[in-house]
Amino acid sequence: MSPDLDIGTLSTADAVSSAIRRLYGPGFHGTGVVHVTSVWRRDPDTQLVIRIGPDAPACAFDQLVLNWTRARADAIITTGRILRQEPELSHQLQGPGSSAQGLARWRTEVLGKTRPPISLLLTSGRDLDFAHPLFSGPGRVVILTDRRGGWNLESRASDAGVEIVALDNPTPRDAIGLLRLEFGCATISVEAGPSVSRQFYEPPTVIDELLLSVYGGEPLPPAARGQRHVTPKQIEAAFRQPYPAYSVVGDDGRSPWDFYRYVRP
Ligand SMILES: NC(=O)c1ccc[n+]([C@@H]2O[C@H](COP(=O)([O-])OP(=O)(O)OC[C@H]3O[C@@H](n4cnc5c(N)ncnc54)[C@H](OP(=O)(O)O)[C@@H]3O)[C@@H](O)[C@H]2O)c1
Repeated sequence: MSPDLDIGTLSTADAVSSAIRRLYGPGFHGTGVVHVTSVWRRDPDTQLVIRIGPDAPACAFDQLVLNWTRARADAIITTGRILRQEPELSHQLQGPGSSAQGLARWRTEVLGKTRPPISLLLTSGRDLDFAHPLFSGPGRVVILTDRRGGWNLESRASDAGVEIVALDNPTPRDAIGLLRLEFGCATISVEAGPSVSRQFYEPPTVIDELLLSVYGGEPLPPAARGQRHVTPKQIEAAFRQPYPAYSVVGDDGRSPWDFYRYVRP
């Protein structure tokens, strides 16, 4: 259970590469649509997505996985609801010690990416606050919305330097198509919550890789219980058997967490 990785010391691209091999095993080939999410397994058939906030259990390794996925990404998909619930959210690389610097080096030196990822925001546009820190990061922000949202947001988005794509009836899958075809993105990280991300698993699934962090401690407080993720059975059916889980103890010093990387056959 005790980790042999010190996340705070991951200051070089090599250190990040070996940490990722330690977590997920060999054989990393990283493009496609990557869903990164943390869940609590309420029972063998039900896993609830953890709602991020003060009541959510924390684990530094879960943060490493999220930030490693951002370091790989050409684009990150998020939603208006997440911006409202996480007023501090930013897609910039973060982590303890020198790990954010190590992840940035890994992005440049291993993947050859010189620009930050695009943040794609799926929203109807209601209550959208352009003072949110997501809009002042170094990367491009693109809003995917419907026609009405486009009209309502146009002038404020233009003032904020944010691009808008307005479609008749946009779907979450349109976000993937748009990022691939119009913006040339090969690696897309899905950071949307369960109501959007579940749609990506409906056949034909568009998720190529699932990075699943499983919290196994005391039952979650109600405020941290989100909606259902797809079931363990659906995951088993859609993906190859994962490399054996990497197990650690969370930041509270006692709750177990397991980390899995599933890829499609
Ligand atoms: N544990 C984790 O790994 C993890 C990861 C991500 C999120 N979360 C949690 O998940 C929760 C949010 O998940 P959720 O399922 O409630 O919401 P969600 O799936 O993140 O977002 C739903 C929102 O997406 C936008 N949207 C969806 N379909 C759309 C469409 N066709 N056109 C335009 N906009 C569309 C709408 O935003 P508007 O309301 O702005 O119109 C809608 O309210 C949060 O509590 C967050 O903390 C946890």
